[in-house]
Amino acid sequence: MLKTLNELENKAMLELPGATSEDALNELRTRYLGRKGLLTQMLRQISGVIAEERPLFGKRSNEIKESLSHAIDEALEKLKASCKNDVLLKETIDVTLPGRAVRLGHLHPITRVSQEICRIFARMGFNVVEGPEVETDYYNFEALNIPKDHPARDMQDTFYVEDNIVLRTHTSPVQIRTMEKMKPPVRILSPGRVYRPDSDVSHTPMFHQIEGLMVDKGVTFGDLKGTLTYFLKQIFGDDILLRFRPSFFPFTEPSAEVDIKCVMCGGKGCRVCGQSGWLEILGSGMVDPAVFENVGYDPEEVTGFAFGLGVERIAMLKYGISDIRLFFENDWRFLEQF
Ligand code: PHE
Repeated sequence: MLKTLNELENKAMLELPGATSEDALNELRTRYLGRKGLLTQMLRQISGVIAEERPLFGKRSNEIKESLSHAIDEALEKLKASCKNDVLLKETIDVTLPGRAVRLGHLHPITRVSQEICRIFARMGFNVVEGPEVETDYYNFEALNIPKDHPARDMQDTFYVEDNIVLRTHTSPVQIRTMEKMKPPVRILSPGRVYRPDSDVSHTPMFHQIEGLMVDKGVTFGDLKGTLTYFLKQIFGDDILLRFRPSFFPFTEPSAEVDIKCVMCGGKGCRVCGQSGWLEILGSGMVDPAVFENVGYDPEEVTGFAFGLGVERIAMLKYGISDIRLFFENDWRFLEQF
């Protein structure tokens, strides 16, 4: 029996070098040392061994079990080490290659223009105030002297959320919210998103407006003209020509739209200015007494002016962009130019 045991060991040791993969080595281990393995089976036959030889037989089988198991472990280790080596040899790294640059972001052109406008007005003492984008019909229309079913509502197509709730069509409701909360003097600027169901090269359903409001004793149309002239010269340069053109808004009286001489053609007439030589740039006017009454101000005591402008429009003219939709496509080839 001891002889058979030694033969088994020799056989296993001879087979070992032939097992050159992890699978083969595991198979070898199971075949000899597993629960139904050759060595285990021999051990089960210990009862057939004569009593004097049993201790030796047991000892030998344990030795064989240990040495075989150890040899297989070693072979596995070696195999793993050489695999690693192969991988290292195959995966060469060229340390002379330049690193990959991390792309740095920057502010969106609309944010930049918006901030620039706010900074100009901040120098004249205007404070930034914000308001909700989902607005009640009252703040967006009624308080601004635009009653229900009034034709003036047609000036601003509207997204309705519910019967009396709208996505604000302009930043003017912030005028009302501010005046309700504070006593004159008021000098505020309100930037933010507004919504109208329009879409073409110069309209997107969401765009940005900045509203301005100044109320105090003795504010005149001259103050309006002076303030807006200073602002437009800061944005478009001292040489810019502008005109105040009579217009209509339900919440201002008198009202004026401000045009600048076309920055594209210099006034000769082109596609951008619709051959007129002038570009409409903002709406403005003296706050209507009816609006003051709605917020509890005494129109006999205070006067004020308000204006509203589209940030995209200013950005398009400033940078010479012909399609407003480019601002919202998030194509970095466009955005990285600013
Ligand atoms: N709210 C007006 C609009 O969106 C602009 C405006 C604001 C006009 C303030 C006059 C005074 O068209």
